[in-house]
Amino acid sequence: MKDYLPKCGELTKKFGEVYPAGHTNARVKFNATEASIFAERAEGSHVWDMDGNEYIEYVNAYGPLLLGHRHPRWIDALKDHLDHNTTVYGSGIIYGENDIHLGQKLVKHIPCAEAVKLCTTGTEAVQTAIRIARAYSGKDKILRFGSFYHGWVDNIYINKIDDEYNEEDGPLYKVLPKDNPYYPDGVSPWVRNESFVIPYNNFEMLEKTIEKYNDKIGMCLVEPMASDVFCMHPLPGYLERMRELCTKYNIVLCFDEVITGFRLGLGGVQEYLGVIPDICTLGKSLGGGLPVAAVVGKKEFMNIFQEKNVVSGGTFNGFSLGITASLAAISLYEELADTLYSTLEAVTDRLIGGMHEICKKYNVAFTTTECTKGGIFYAFFGIDNGRIKRLTDVSMVSGADYEFYDRFWQFMQEEGILIMFGARWFIGGGHTMEDIEKTLTVFEMSLQKTLEYYEEKKK
Ligand SMILES: Cc1ncc(COP(=O)(O)O)c(C=O)c1O
Repeated sequence: MKDYLPKCGELTKKFGEVYPAGHTNARVKFNATEASIFAERAEGSHVWDMDGNEYIEYVNAYGPLLLGHRHPRWIDALKDHLDHNTTVYGSGIIYGENDIHLGQKLVKHIPCAEAVKLCTTGTEAVQTAIRIARAYSGKDKILRFGSFYHGWVDNIYINKIDDEYNEEDGPLYKVLPKDNPYYPDGVSPWVRNESFVIPYNNFEMLEKTIEKYNDKIGMCLVEPMASDVFCMHPLPGYLERMRELCTKYNIVLCFDEVITGFRLGLGGVQEYLGVIPDICTLGKSLGGGLPVAAVVGKKEFMNIFQEKNVVSGGTFNGFSLGITASLAAISLYEELADTLYSTLEAVTDRLIGGMHEICKKYNVAFTTTECTKGGIFYAFFGIDNGRIKRLTDVSMVSGADYEFYDRFWQFMQEEGILIMFGARWFIGGGHTMEDIEKTLTVFEMSLQKTLEYYEEKKK
């Protein structure tokens, strides 16, 4: 491997002394190389590290950078704000006029939105949504779906399905062995009783669970196009059936659009698929690169804060710099809508198409899955199911060769393409066709090197 990260390597050691777990962690490999990347600057889709290496990046900070890094108009809005305003006033005590403009924009664009509650992270938005649902319905249990991610807090973190559930307990998730990466230490054992976790896209299981436990289930929480689960799409009629059952049994339907919000157009997946939840969570792209998140929903549900003793605090809820950032981001999504979304789609299409051509040329088993229009896709080596535009069954992507991907990931980084673990790629508004062509050149080169590496290993 190339030694191209001497300074980053030194910084990695110093960093490890003060941050033993980094800034965010799960039991997966976050970095391609032993040295972490320490960035000096960023622009659009490009990042420069402290060793002077330039990268085209597909990490996208896990999704918020729909406009790319440092969109000049977004930066101007922040600068203008800081010229005469402060960053935070005192949540609930002092407001700004922009708070109203932001709320009005959300109500205008998000189909279920008649009212808004702001917070700072997606995890918090989900917790707020849970409170709304429990208070509104008077029922405690959450119905969730296997492998779906809604943040890192205890009550929603563990998302594996119990394939041995018994009829009495219902489909609770399995008590995983302690060494399983999905059951981290420190998680309360009591949260096991808070959720029913069932397989997605299984009509029978959905119907049976709701029919049987509707007196306990207060909320159905779902990512309507599961960007976190290999971009799994709902089967035709699945979300509609969910909507129907939730209405029938007084269960609050919450779409988690923390990732998909603004990525599939201004109205998110709910607008795209035409199924309207009671409430939904937003985050990531909502702030355009600063931490702004929200629950939005119909007034009937959102009014619960006044009608009952529901509390949702947060020192930084609705902080003024975040409001400006969010307002500027949404104004840009509106203004650029004609080009932003079509470019995102075209660029993603060319990249995925090009990857398949290259893999075909080298006879490499390769599969991709994608979220329609959203600039999110997964690339798997070792499975030969082609380009899946609408994944509805995760077994189609089981058996991927992640070891091969890890090696390939290192070669890509060495040649200036930064991707992330777990086969997921994010495209942002900063990506150009030129970036994509360069990426495809490096993709081919890295694939060749990875194949050579394994050939060599066999000898
Ligand atoms: C669908 C979904 N919901 C919630 C969250 C949590 O958001 P945050 O990381 O801002 O807390 C995430 C984060 O990736 C997510 O993908």
